[in-house]
Amino acid sequence: NETIYILAIESSCDDTSAAVLMNDKVLSNVVATQAIHKEYGGVVPELASRAHQQNIVPVVDQAIARANIDKKQLSAIAFTRGPGLMGSLLVGTSFAKSLSLGLQIPLIEVNHMKAHVLAHFINDDSMKPPKFPFLALTISGGHTQIVQVNDFFDMKIIGQTLDDAVGEAFDKSAKILGLPYPGGPLIDKYAATGNSHKFEFPIPKVKELDFSFSGLKTSILYFIQKQTKIDPHFIENNLEDICASIQYTIITILMKKLKKAVKLTGIKEIAIGGGVSANSGIRKALMDTQTTYGWKTYVPKFEYCTDNAAMIGIVGYYKYKNEVFAQQDVTAKARYLI
Ligand code: KG4
Ligand code: ZN
Repeated sequence: NETIYILAIESSCDDTSAAVLMNDKVLSNVVATQAIHKEYGGVVPELASRAHQQNIVPVVDQAIARANIDKKQLSAIAFTRGPGLMGSLLVGTSFAKSLSLGLQIPLIEVNHMKAHVLAHFINDDSMKPPKFPFLALTISGGHTQIVQVNDFFDMKIIGQTLDDAVGEAFDKSAKILGLPYPGGPLIDKYAATGNSHKFEFPIPKVKELDFSFSGLKTSILYFIQKQTKIDPHFIENNLEDICASIQYTIITILMKKLKKAVKLTGIKEIAIGGGVSANSGIRKALMDTQTTYGWKTYVPKFEYCTDNAAMIGIVGYYKYKNEVFAQQDVTAKARYLI
């Protein structure tokens, strides 16, 4: 039983990350977050690619140094092939290919959305993996989907957003309230002391297990415009209650669809992932279902929720064990279904 060392690289959006795994354990997980996008109120693709170019070598060096191994011990290199921003993906893809050539070790391509789902299988004392089959709710700034996971490499999307992702709903609502980017964590913070039933926003009617969040943003915008005409200080006087009401609406939408998914599939093992799963209201709502509905719920450690290379590494490990490797002519894929 050989020990497998995987170097993993993630560069799909605005975080440059590298990790080293020893089998299913994380030895290091380095993330360089690009601060530049804050000034623009969102991710600027062109700037993201440039920052990846600058960060990738130091980030990989640091991941290897922190893992305290020699490059020569690496068994394979795993990288994010997609989905994501093309310019960003190209940096990680080209780097991974070159390094695999240089070190003469296999290359493994990884789907970023699959990685969010399989992050639960990282061997960590603070986490317990869900049992197959389970439902994975992936909620981030770029994605919102419910995936039925039958096995490591047998999963299918059973519901997804038709427009904005949940993270965008948080960030765009925050922007309307004059909060800086990314506003999700700030809404979470103010919501903690607010009354979630003070204001009411409509729950969209969307077919089956799909989601829609663009209507929510519009209704918040109209509501705020109307109220500030009456009281110019409406936002500052009601910030906590507005945030709590927005968050409550988003949680209601998510829980409604999860309940429907459980009913349709009969699966009560629920795992969440993606940056928005940091939200304390969502975490609480999900934990509550353990007693109210008898669901088993799983939330990964925060560093494995947001974009990170460790989750790319765990997929790399399972692909290595199954001898699923990529060829040197593999290309990045901006649109890449799970
Ligand atoms: O997974 P992630 O780090 O990057 C993407 O792949 O998008 O997710 C970032 C998103 C942002 O929209 C951010 O506002 C949101 O996650 N977010 C939160 C919280 N923490 C991060 N949204 C609500 N409450 C939070 N506590
Ligand atoms: Zn992501």
